[in-house]
Amino acid sequence: MNVIITGANGFVGRNIGLHLAENGFEVTGIVRGKKVVPFPAVSSKDLTETRLGNMIKNSDALVHLVGQGKQTVCNTYENVNVSLTRNAVTLCKRAGIKKIIYMSGLGVDKSTTLGYFISKYNAEQEIVKSGLDYTIFRASYIVGKDDPLSKTLQQQIRKGKIIIPGSGNYRFQPIFVDDVSKIIGKTIVDKKLSNKIIDLVGPQIISYNLFVKKFLHGRNVPIQRLDFEDAYNNALHGKGSFGVDDLAIMAGDYIGNHKKLASLAEMKFTRWDEILKSCSLS
Ligand SMILES: NC(=O)c1ccc[n+]([C@@H]2O[C@H](COP(=O)([O-])OP(=O)(O)OC[C@H]3O[C@@H](n4cnc5c(N)ncnc54)[C@H](OP(=O)(O)O)[C@@H]3O)[C@@H](O)[C@H]2O)c1
Repeated sequence: MNVIITGANGFVGRNIGLHLAENGFEVTGIVRGKKVVPFPAVSSKDLTETRLGNMIKNSDALVHLVGQGKQTVCNTYENVNVSLTRNAVTLCKRAGIKKIIYMSGLGVDKSTTLGYFISKYNAEQEIVKSGLDYTIFRASYIVGKDDPLSKTLQQQIRKGKIIIPGSGNYRFQPIFVDDVSKIIGKTIVDKKLSNKIIDLVGPQIISYNLFVKKFLHGRNVPIQRLDFEDAYNNALHGKGSFGVDDLAIMAGDYIGNHKKLASLAEMKFTRWDEILKSCSLS
């Protein structure tokens, strides 16, 4: 089967692309700059080029991973998360691609007041109303080698201390990127996951404090607890490891429905403590 991946140079895109390519799929990435992935890729500014539609004509599925979790004056959530999703839907229709898979975020719903989640919700709606066969995943933190959260922790370790905003008691449900890749593979071939919005969450719920402790593997790195007000102040002024919306998501304590995912995907999930060991994240 032919699979197209937008945002292929990103953390999730390169992992999924590699997994699918190793498991019999013909993968073509779409990237905005120079390709860094070891599978074929084409470049596109905004997914609207006519040549692009012709190059990927009649592929079996498009996995839309373009997205950003921090906005700037030039790259707003509306421009990137919503408009480029609308362009991805149009691209599917032009190229005769009937299936679209989208990576949304855990915590997104109609009643959200967070700008990032509002853009993800509006992007979801572009897909739901498109008439295409769709699967939308609302993902918790996806972890694996070089994931964004682990990279942040590694950077903090290199600077000499781990910073935990607030109490650190807020929880999350990390899911292994290899498990995510397997689920995407199943979603492409199995109609059971069609036309659904599904939480993409791992089997265990853990606090940020515990995650950091395990990440350190007993290493003696000082931990600084930073008052949330100070963390927020840093974020607003572009300082520190976390953006304003990162902090909101952390404090949001979002937990999802792993049982539903497990019953649809029918596979064994990796425990997060095994992930930390197997990926040598720490
Ligand atoms: N990682 C997680 O834990 C997680 C959790 C929930 C949801 N998600 C969602 O999953 C998707 C992939 O996440 P990720 O961790 O792989 O993020 P990532 O590493 O930041 O990758 C995002 C991709 O989007 C591309 N992109 C960003 N702005 C763009 C623009 N204006 N035009 C074209 N391409 C653009 C980036 O291109 P460049 O490579 O050129 O920068 C990159 O390839 C995102 O939509 C994210 O919101 C991720």
